[in-house]
Amino acid sequence: MRVLSLAVLASLFLASCQSESPVSSPNGRTVVHVNAASLPPTYTVLRDGDTLVCTSTLDMHFEGTELPFSIWSGLTYSGQTTQTIDETYELPWGEWREVHHQGNQAVYTFEGKRGTVTLTFHVTDEGFAFRYGMTLEADSLPLFAEESTFNLNANPEAFWIPGDWDIYEHLYNRTPLRSINAIAKRNHPNLAQTYIPYNAVNTPVTLVYENGTHLALHEAALVDYPGMTLAVDTLTGNLRSQLVGRGPLAQEDYAAADPGAQIWIPGTFQTPWRVVLIADDAPGLLNSHLVLDLNEPNKLGDVSWFEPMKYMGIWWEMHLGKSTWDMFGSQSMSTFDFEGENGGAALKPTGRHGANTENAKRYIDFASQHGFKGLLVEGWNVGWEHWIGFEDREGVFDFVSTYPDYNLQEVQRYAKEHGMSLIMHHETSSAPRTYDQQMDTAYSLMQSLGIHSVKTGYVGKIIPKTEFHHGRWMVRHYQRSVERAAAHQVAVNIHEPIKATGLRRTYPNLIAREGARGQEFNAWSIERGNPPSHIPTMAFTRMLGGPMDFTPGVFQINLDAFKPGSRINTTIAQQLGLYIVMYSPVQMACDLPEHYAANLPALKFIEEVGVDWESSEVLDGEVGEFVVVARQERKAQTNGRRHWFVGAANNEVARDYTLALDFLPEGETFTAHIYRDDTAAGAHCWDNPTALKIESITVKKGDTISCPMAVGGGFAVSLLAE
Ligand code: NOJ
Ligand code: CA
Repeated sequence: MRVLSLAVLASLFLASCQSESPVSSPNGRTVVHVNAASLPPTYTVLRDGDTLVCTSTLDMHFEGTELPFSIWSGLTYSGQTTQTIDETYELPWGEWREVHHQGNQAVYTFEGKRGTVTLTFHVTDEGFAFRYGMTLEADSLPLFAEESTFNLNANPEAFWIPGDWDIYEHLYNRTPLRSINAIAKRNHPNLAQTYIPYNAVNTPVTLVYENGTHLALHEAALVDYPGMTLAVDTLTGNLRSQLVGRGPLAQEDYAAADPGAQIWIPGTFQTPWRVVLIADDAPGLLNSHLVLDLNEPNKLGDVSWFEPMKYMGIWWEMHLGKSTWDMFGSQSMSTFDFEGENGGAALKPTGRHGANTENAKRYIDFASQHGFKGLLVEGWNVGWEHWIGFEDREGVFDFVSTYPDYNLQEVQRYAKEHGMSLIMHHETSSAPRTYDQQMDTAYSLMQSLGIHSVKTGYVGKIIPKTEFHHGRWMVRHYQRSVERAAAHQVAVNIHEPIKATGLRRTYPNLIAREGARGQEFNAWSIERGNPPSHIPTMAFTRMLGGPMDFTPGVFQINLDAFKPGSRINTTIAQQLGLYIVMYSPVQMACDLPEHYAANLPALKFIEEVGVDWESSEVLDGEVGEFVVVARQERKAQTNGRRHWFVGAANNEVARDYTLALDFLPEGETFTAHIYRDDTAAGAHCWDNPTALKIESITVKKGDTISCPMAVGGGFAVSLLAE
């Protein structure tokens, strides 16, 4: 006889307490019960009949004349409507050309004198999501707090970064959920801005249960609203939405607060979606497109003026300290301080300014020979003497005026002549009002020169100090920049951004962003670079949000020549694998031309690898352990010669890995070029990071390829139909 488990009994009891009809995923495995009759409403989630999320309340509060009041006050529940969604949409660029979105949706409506509030639940085979909607009499209401709860009542393993209001560039932590201590992560010396007011985590946060169930909590369609962190109750493992810029503790930091720090929500409004991805394994999380599904369709129409591309840049050389962003050497990364070789005062050119016309042409010569389409040039414009380390950064950067040794028009002309284009760079130094004033002029200049993409940056504390990178004020700023850029046919890649929440579906000129600890930390972090587990952790956390400009491709892994004693925890094989693992429609080859020239056989893979995909499939992996991804190139598909690529990255445990080619179509043969760690030369990335075994063989569906991965290693495979 089958004995009903306690969890099942509890869920049957819970289900019988719910007043509304449940909403199920199309495959029936996930069932959401909402109790709307008594307010605030609560919800419960069952997975395969077991309780996954226990009864959790949903609330929002607005500031009242004396006390905050609940969004539900004065309302009564008036009914539930349900609908089935079955749509297929195309992405102009992406991991998939076509996305098939199937789900069931229920809208619960509440009415009263003040107007109507809705609660919408959306359930698919990939998880569930909910959002609040309102049509209230008031023109706007001051948002006090959102109190969405996720009563997990469990202690899964959590992969998390602190709920920092100003930056996501932390190392990931791997602890039981109830042991999360975000406060301990305050004041990291490498972060130009960091503010962690609560024991909270940023999203996406990934949770792994003992039975193998994987959850990731995130948000979708973040527009006109503060970013959400999740406060952790370490006694119960329960999570609660903690909005950036809201909350009692944080008020202390608002000593200089002005009324602008209030967040006025329009009376007719919809919050972002609160999303919980549910999967049986780590690949299931990353194969999900639910975050995109929850965003509105493309509002920009034809964006063919932007094409996914690989690019090089005058960039890594500054991070290595070989050259400087500013012309006068006051910002050298080789000395790790910003006093400057000239003491910052003499303002005499040092001859080490990276962004000069000659150097740019040198990069273009090399990049064009190897098929790159873009060149990023940082440090081209005036203002770099006065960015990091200065309080008064308003009006400093100028986004149209070049340093005297850089001829923007000439470099773009030269790039065009070589079949390339510049990628513009706008470092705002977190003075967004200065950028707001200039962005139209700056994008017009770009448009007049035929430059269709820009990398923006927000290093430093936001001016004014009452605002935060992830607060509503900045969410609006980033959005404005994306919309203004679109009007000038400019695509945007944001560094120090607000997190990715799938808005690229609606605004396909929002091509990529940073929003995590990228390659740059390998040049100068106090931890001596990112640990090997960083990539297979980010793959199943940060990457759930969308494309990241990680900037892969370091070939000179031993940095002795620039930073004595420094080396990166990686291998060339892994760096190649990253072009597949870390999806972005703009992929940098970040190393210096001379380092690529010294290893042309490995560069061949970067030359060949696609950047735009017909379809993608995460084949294998575990959070923080390893990740293997396969993608089919989109252009090659339309050209009729099918081309697949596989990439993998590994953590601190060397492993024998056998890649099964089950994803290939039946009945065709493929030429496989395999780039893998030469583990005979060393099974640790420190032993021989550049030991790469390159081999070409003919393969077909069902074959296997042995791909041992070193500590910090990985592999990359190109599979071209014969
Ligand atoms: C930080 C960005 O992440 C990096 O890519 C850039 O080089 C510097 N800021 C300067 O803008
Ligand atoms: Ca950064």
